Amino acid sequence: MTSMATRWGICSAGRISHDFAVALKTLPAVDHQVVAVAARKLEDAQEFAKKHSISRAYGSYEELARDPDIDVVYVGTIHPHHLKVCQLFTNAKKNVLCEKPLAMNTKEVKEILDSAKRNDVFLMEAVWTRFFPVSVEVRRLLAEGELGEVKMVRSDFGVPVLHVPRLVQKELGGGALLSIGMYCLQFVCMVYNGEKPESIQATGVCLETGVDETVVVTLKFSKNKMAVFTYSSGIQLPNDAVIVGTKGTIRIPTQMWCPTSVVVNGKETQYPLPEPCLPLNFLNSTGMRYEAEEVRQCLLKGLKESAVMSHADSLLLAEVEDEIRRQVGVVYSQDCQ
Ligand SMILES: NC(=O)c1ccc[n+]([C@@H]2O[C@H](COP(=O)([O-])OP(=O)(O)OC[C@H]3O[C@@H](n4cnc5c(N)ncnc54)[C@H](OP(=O)(O)O)[C@@H]3O)[C@@H](O)[C@H]2O)c1
Repeated sequence: MTSMATRWGICSAGRISHDFAVALKTLPAVDHQVVAVAARKLEDAQEFAKKHSISRAYGSYEELARDPDIDVVYVGTIHPHHLKVCQLFTNAKKNVLCEKPLAMNTKEVKEILDSAKRNDVFLMEAVWTRFFPVSVEVRRLLAEGELGEVKMVRSDFGVPVLHVPRLVQKELGGGALLSIGMYCLQFVCMVYNGEKPESIQATGVCLETGVDETVVVTLKFSKNKMAVFTYSSGIQLPNDAVIVGTKGTIRIPTQMWCPTSVVVNGKETQYPLPEPCLPLNFLNSTGMRYEAEEVRQCLLKGLKESAVMSHADSLLLAEVEDEIRRQVGVVYSQDCQ
């Protein structure tokens, strides 16, 4: 006998929520259903519901938290609101998949994780990249020792997005690290299996708004393992990633945050994504289907976190992000509370 569909609630009717709803449509309807959407304004929720054929639309997040027919809430608000919104749903005993970054800093991330544990619900930061078939293959190759000892990880992610207010304005969670650079960081942390770096060095350029624009980060790990990554909200970079070991090399030739191709010792393999049923706001967003399926599998097993993107993984990202921001001089109001 097959299990029942996972019933999703979507919190916020913004750009990434739209893409997430489209990504869910690429999965079997018997496995994934969107039951309700909530936005700050009822009209926004209703418009979203109409576009995605969702039966319930709420004009407040609280109503979604009270809906008894929801298994898990996808939080797609901008990150300064993640803490309050995640707490709303965890306190209502709802499982949560929250967009990245999980929160503005380590202190907030800890509060979210504590709240999930206290309420005994599943919670995961939506680091969708980790669930792409390319990432699964990379982890398999590393676990099987295909590269020998990994000595260096290098990657970059840069896109010109300074016209987007939420990337620039501090109160909207602006700053390239939390929106863009975190993809390079999470890649390094995945390759080095959640190990804490021994040293972190960041040099960068900030905008007049006080947030980071272009930064180079060098990390050193135990046994002389190194990593270096560059991120930017001002310029287009190649956006590739390379893992170099004593016996081989893995390269993600481009789009390292949503990869559809991997080159292992010179041999390329493609992993195409399904086509979206509606136009997307962001590149390759149907690839969010893999994180959605991970959430379903975790819920079916009664797990409270994913082994692939665990609470400890979110905490590590936040801690390294805090240190990078300290070195380049980015302070959010949330850091002072
Ligand atoms: N996984 C990915 O590839 C990916 C891509 C893009 C973004 N993201 C992440 O997703 C989140 C949202 O990004 P987005 O591009 O979708 O943002 P967005 O469309 O600008 O905003 C998303 C939602 O946040 C709420 N919001 C926006 N401004 C607000 C404000 N000033 N005060 C209170 N609430 C506000 C709104 O919710 P209502 O609809 O309820 O009004 C809005 O619909 C960010 O944390 C970002 O890092 C992830």
